[in-house]
Amino acid sequence: MASTPQHWDAAYAQGDTTRGWYQTEARASMGMLRDSGVGPGSSLIDIGGGASVLVDDLLDAGFDDITVLDHSAVGLDIARARLGERRDQVAWIVNDLLTWTPPRTFDVWHDRAVLHFLLDADEQHRYVEVLRAATHPGSIAIIGAFGPTGPEMCSGLPVQRYGVPALDALLGSNFSRITSRDDVHVKPDGSTQDYLWWAGRRTA
Ligand SMILES: C[S@@+](CC[C@H](N)C(=O)[O-])C[C@H]1O[C@@H](n2cnc3c(N)ncnc32)[C@H](O)[C@@H]1O
Repeated sequence: MASTPQHWDAAYAQGDTTRGWYQTEARASMGMLRDSGVGPGSSLIDIGGGASVLVDDLLDAGFDDITVLDHSAVGLDIARARLGERRDQVAWIVNDLLTWTPPRTFDVWHDRAVLHFLLDADEQHRYVEVLRAATHPGSIAIIGAFGPTGPEMCSGLPVQRYGVPALDALLGSNFSRITSRDDVHVKPDGSTQDYLWWAGRRTA
């Protein structure tokens, strides 16, 4: 199995609220934004946002320049349907992040549970290239990935687990770490997954 749009469309077609990554509120993400000094005046892109409720929480907090990118149209449709009229306050992009050419830059790049599906060094290198193209010096990158004690599979796919040194090494030549923290995600079935959250500011 591979992390294709078809794979993710089929996963979301079973309902977002039963998927392992589902959460009722984007608590860790909002905490990382606060701790990184990001307020509602910032533009933000949620990379691989799918059906995530982060966009709901950002709108509630007053963010007014939000973009959500995902290669799964089914995932994005769930978020759009849930938001109702508020969907029009958000820019939606259906694209593979690895083939995407950002038309603008954002103050914040947010990724929860996307980077860890990129197992190949070339894909990880491309991720950083797109991250650079979508940001400017001073932008903040916030990444939530499975931590060293996290699962080895998610949604039937193998993942790469990350510690702070690995994220520093991947992003360190472009971004200076602001903060990092461990976080436990409680899945809809009650089991847990260990995440590592990392935030850095682009230096040049
Ligand atoms: C585990 S889900 C996490 C979704 C969301 N970030 C959240 O926290 O609820 C992974 C998401 O990444 C998306 N994804 C995976 N690889 C992608 C890629 N190459 N380009 C765009 N989206 C991708 C999937 O479609 C899916 O929505």
